[in-house]
Amino acid sequence: MKILGISGSARAPETSGVNKVVKTLLEATGLDYELVSLRGKIIGGCIACLGCVKDNVCKVQDDMAALRDKIIGADAYVIGAPNYYTGLNALTHALLERLYQFRHQEGDTLWGKLAVAVGIGASSGQCCCADIERFMAYNFVETIAKVSGQGAASCYSCGHGGTCRVGVPIMIHGEGVKITDDMIPDVTQ
Ligand SMILES: Cc1cc2nc3c(=O)[nH]c(=O)nc-3n(C[C@H](O)[C@H](O)[C@H](O)COP(=O)(O)O)c2cc1C
Repeated sequence: MKILGISGSARAPETSGVNKVVKTLLEATGLDYELVSLRGKIIGGCIACLGCVKDNVCKVQDDMAALRDKIIGADAYVIGAPNYYTGLNALTHALLERLYQFRHQEGDTLWGKLAVAVGIGASSGQCCCADIERFMAYNFVETIAKVSGQGAASCYSCGHGGTCRVGVPIMIHGEGVKITDDMIPDVTQ
């Protein structure tokens, strides 16, 4: 059994909450796994060219092409995304749209595989889990668990979090907040 982990965060793996949770889950399985970060990858959304209809192979040449074999080779997935505007971030959404290439003429390449959906947000990542589950269902991949958590908003480290009134620190702790390390949400907790 081989598991493919995909972290859809654009942040560096050391600071990404999504990456941390996806990696923790992969390690907990005790199974053979590979973790791919989408950070820095160029993956566009499906352009509906229908170039994949005949052979179920996407013809768009970007970083999704190299992921295709990994997706086929895995028996199960742990797919994680950060919550952007109460939904999936664009990078993860683009990758999931491109699974369209597997669907034509009752293409069953992904059918029966399993998935765990991970969503991390400054408040909640539950919406991402539901989005990932929906994409999986379209490809007959069963989502067997959904894991959501609270990660650190960039407002804690942008330099203006203590004074910006639309930022997360003031929203949570109120005006006059002094940002200290112990108040920054740590997804591992
Ligand atoms: C463009 C953008 C939009 C965001 N929108 C939301 C949001 O609507 N709700 C939320 O809870 N967090 C939101 N966040 C915060 C991220 O989800 C949060 O920082 C999360 O920890 C990011 O995961 P990562 O560290 O793995 O990238 C947003 C962050 C960015 C950069």
